Amino acid sequence: MPERSWSKLWSAAEKARRKAHAPYSKFHVGAAIECDDGSIVSGCNVENASYGLTVCAERNAIGAMVLQGRTPRRVAIVVDHSRPVPPCGVCRQVLAEFADPEVPVRSRTLKGDVLETTVGELLPFAFSGDFLDEAEATRRDRSKRR
Ligand code: THU
Repeated sequence: MPERSWSKLWSAAEKARRKAHAPYSKFHVGAAIECDDGSIVSGCNVENASYGLTVCAERNAIGAMVLQGRTPRRVAIVVDHSRPVPPCGVCRQVLAEFADPEVPVRSRTLKGDVLETTVGELLPFAFSGDFLDEAEATRRDRSKRR
């Protein structure tokens, strides 16, 4: 994909980053998702005085995407840090719920350093709804045989 095609996504993530509510960590993160229809949704991290209630930028962007009824095509994350940040473990699981393993994820610093990865690289061996479907099928099978 040409580099140019990420520029709108970077702008949306940067704009979202400026809205971060991060008075405790002071670590402002913005995320933007290009959806299957080409539209862009974004999110910022929202912290809470009860620290554990914090929601990352990536998950808030996913929430905005779900609200639009879309699926992700590409994910961009922006931070003001010396190196790009990868999504946290919780966000990887949430991304894997909606995104195919091939979906590109890029994280960038304000200076322009970029980390390029994919949802599958970030979370190999992901737990998914497939396991629950299989378990349900096994239960049905067993009860039929009884
Ligand atoms: N954070 C994100 O929003 N995304 C990431 O990928 C890493 C961490 C937020 C959560 C918290 O508000 C702050 O960064 C410090 O952990």
